[in-house]
Amino acid sequence: MAMVCLSDFEAYAKKYLPKIAWDFFAAGADDCSTRDENILAYKRIHFRPRMLRDVSVMDIRTKLLGSEISFPVGIAPTGFHQLAWPDGEKSTARAAKAMNTCYIASTYSTCTLEEISAAAPGGLQWFQLYIHRNRAVSQQLVQRAEALSFQGLVLTADLPYTGKRRDDVRNGFRLPPHMKLKNLEGAFEVCKTSLLDPSVTWNDIHWLRSLTHLPIIIKGILTKEDAELAVRHGVQGIIVSNHGGRQLDGVPATIDALAEVVEAVQGRVEVYLDGGIRKGSDVLKALALGAKCVFIGRPALWGLAYKGEEGLQEVLRILQDEFRLSMALAGCASISEIGPHLVQFSKL
Ligand code: FNR
Repeated sequence: MAMVCLSDFEAYAKKYLPKIAWDFFAAGADDCSTRDENILAYKRIHFRPRMLRDVSVMDIRTKLLGSEISFPVGIAPTGFHQLAWPDGEKSTARAAKAMNTCYIASTYSTCTLEEISAAAPGGLQWFQLYIHRNRAVSQQLVQRAEALSFQGLVLTADLPYTGKRRDDVRNGFRLPPHMKLKNLEGAFEVCKTSLLDPSVTWNDIHWLRSLTHLPIIIKGILTKEDAELAVRHGVQGIIVSNHGGRQLDGVPATIDALAEVVEAVQGRVEVYLDGGIRKGSDVLKALALGAKCVFIGRPALWGLAYKGEEGLQEVLRILQDEFRLSMALAGCASISEIGPHLVQFSKL
């Protein structure tokens, strides 16, 4: 089967994954308005391309907090990769390294941080943290990640509770018994109830800061007010994200929230985006509106479901090729030439 675009991987994953795994990956909250809006919103943005600008030599490299990556697309944190491929997050780490981009490993990985790190030595890896009721659990995770040379700590802010995902409720979704949340083994006994701490506030950023020298990136910001608070609390990066539409249904598409956050931040910290990126031209639109880099969630899982590490590399390569082509057709030979002048919003 020739894989030409990311939808081909989606169709493959839908056909071949067990229904319960497909439903878990695909799920959005409630009636999935925000999940779907994340994708639709790109269609309302059009390009204002420039012509005759010598795009014979293209440079699509960029930097994430000082580390060079081959193009501005990384892998967002998603849980349970063994549901897609037996080697799970180890394959994800290898693919990200092979494509020279950043992989954000989730707290809810089915491989340990040690396994993920060893699978791709020297690769750019960040660790995504949920703060747990038992702070010792989180503290230990942060310290393990730092000792293992993870280079950034991503604090997910939009999940005090898990959103209501109807298909997961209907399916009674849970991990199959042979898969484990390997980084949290033992923690369930300590906490008894849900591990997530819904009492987390901005003050906890100071607590995190006291634990680690790693840059802190906050994920799940959608408003200028929270962007300002994030900067004031000393984070190094913000990911504009609505968790792929899996949390509060009814929030805007991330591409529609991006400009507000970028304007509030005024270049003081790096701003990234995830949600609904399915084509290279989506990446270009996000960069035009001020994102330094974007991250993909579900498409990475589809790539894994197709052929593990190789499949995910193929997803990344397709996005990379599409992004390079879109840039060239829009008249940009390097990332620094991308800006708001490249896009306009249409009323669709
Ligand atoms: C997620 N996401 C997520 N985010 C996070 O911070 N920690 C996590 O463990 C997970 N787990 C997770 C599982 C699955 C199956 C999905 C689809 C998503 C959210 C993820 O990081 C990202 O915000 C979205 O997936 C981006 O949207 P797209 O690219 O899937 O449209």
